Amino acid sequence: MPRINDNYLKLEAGYLFPEIGRRVAAFAESNPEAKLIKLGIGDVTEPLPEACRTAMIRAVNALGKRDSFHGYGPEQGYAWLREAIAENDFAARGCDIDASEIFVSDGSKCDSGNILDILAAGTANRFAVCDPVYPVYVDTNVMAGNTGEAAGGRYAGLVYLPMTAANSFTPAIPDAPVDVVYLCYPNNPTGAVASRETLTQWVDWAKANNTLILFDAAYHAFITDPDIPHSIYEIPGARDCAIEFRSFSKNAGFTGTRCALTVVPKGLTGKDADGNDVALHGLWNRRQSTKFNGVSYIVQRGAEAVYSEEGKAQVAELIAFYLENARLIREALTACGMEVHGGVNAPYVWIKTPAGVSSWDFFDTLINECHVVGTPGSGFGAAGEGYFRISAFNSRENVEEAMKRIAKLKA
Ligand SMILES: Cc1ncc(COP(=O)(O)O)c(C=O)c1O
Repeated sequence: MPRINDNYLKLEAGYLFPEIGRRVAAFAESNPEAKLIKLGIGDVTEPLPEACRTAMIRAVNALGKRDSFHGYGPEQGYAWLREAIAENDFAARGCDIDASEIFVSDGSKCDSGNILDILAAGTANRFAVCDPVYPVYVDTNVMAGNTGEAAGGRYAGLVYLPMTAANSFTPAIPDAPVDVVYLCYPNNPTGAVASRETLTQWVDWAKANNTLILFDAAYHAFITDPDIPHSIYEIPGARDCAIEFRSFSKNAGFTGTRCALTVVPKGLTGKDADGNDVALHGLWNRRQSTKFNGVSYIVQRGAEAVYSEEGKAQVAELIAFYLENARLIREALTACGMEVHGGVNAPYVWIKTPAGVSSWDFFDTLINECHVVGTPGSGFGAAGEGYFRISAFNSRENVEEAMKRIAKLKA
């Protein structure tokens, strides 16, 4: 009889999105006529850029001929894609990242979870997460056995860094020792961004304390303010203390197509049990080569097209479209008298629920009275209680209709 990984039993039963799905299904069953508008899960809605589709079709046709057929590709990604990323995402912003430090993958969700494979499990490392947080960081630590049990929405053993209106959604740098900290900017779920000064403080602190920063830049393409860094590597010293995750999901609509990347600088090290420095790049390379067989040739050609002239213009159009949705949401909810955050350099609008109304109660009110689905802030962590996330990933028609319905709720 196999023994299971008991850590899975520590996971809080209702992972946020399944619980939303359950409530939505129950609502739809008792209200079959209702036209629900889903501004909940952060999935994109607009079609793939034409440049990407054209490149993928060309790639499919190439696979149809013996002399241009591709079987297994390099586990780290094709050199032409890694070079395009190094040049456009990093060199163009003054970041010193070599193509060989970029690992192409099928998603930032998997990479941000899988990275734990190369770090000691149990109590050897102290992990810090922001609260509210992208739930994957927490749950993968639970699965890996890096936490104790949950109580009051928080797991023993993790360091939580609250982000609330009181600190402008900028968490205080921990005063206790931390070995690994997850940072996500632009932030999911709050829509907050980090200034150059804030990121410099994190990098300086991480270097002084030998802390590894796991920097998730999945939403970097939504930054329009020229003073806000897109990459942690825009900060001097970050090569010595940070791994960065990026994705084609939210800029180019690859949520279903699947392509992402992780940067592990070659000089970045951790300690082995004897206290020797070991390069994380080599460990991640080993991990990926053993457990991963690369992203399909077709999808990598599609991702490469994001960096063509047409691809850049089409991605810019997509981003502008979602940011305009975010602006409409912000303005409509502000006009309803709500306290509204985020949604400027990010696709998420983070609102305060009315006084005395919990995040889940607000969810129920919105679905029952407006037929609009959002995401309860408390699902992202204890400090998210009393907040609610509205996503700008939807059609213009749905956003406008949802805002009209919410305005009536207020009236
Ligand atoms: C912060 C953050 N990181 C990563 C991801 C997942 O990205 P991918 O589609 O590349 O797995 C998401 C998706 O919602 C996200 O919000």
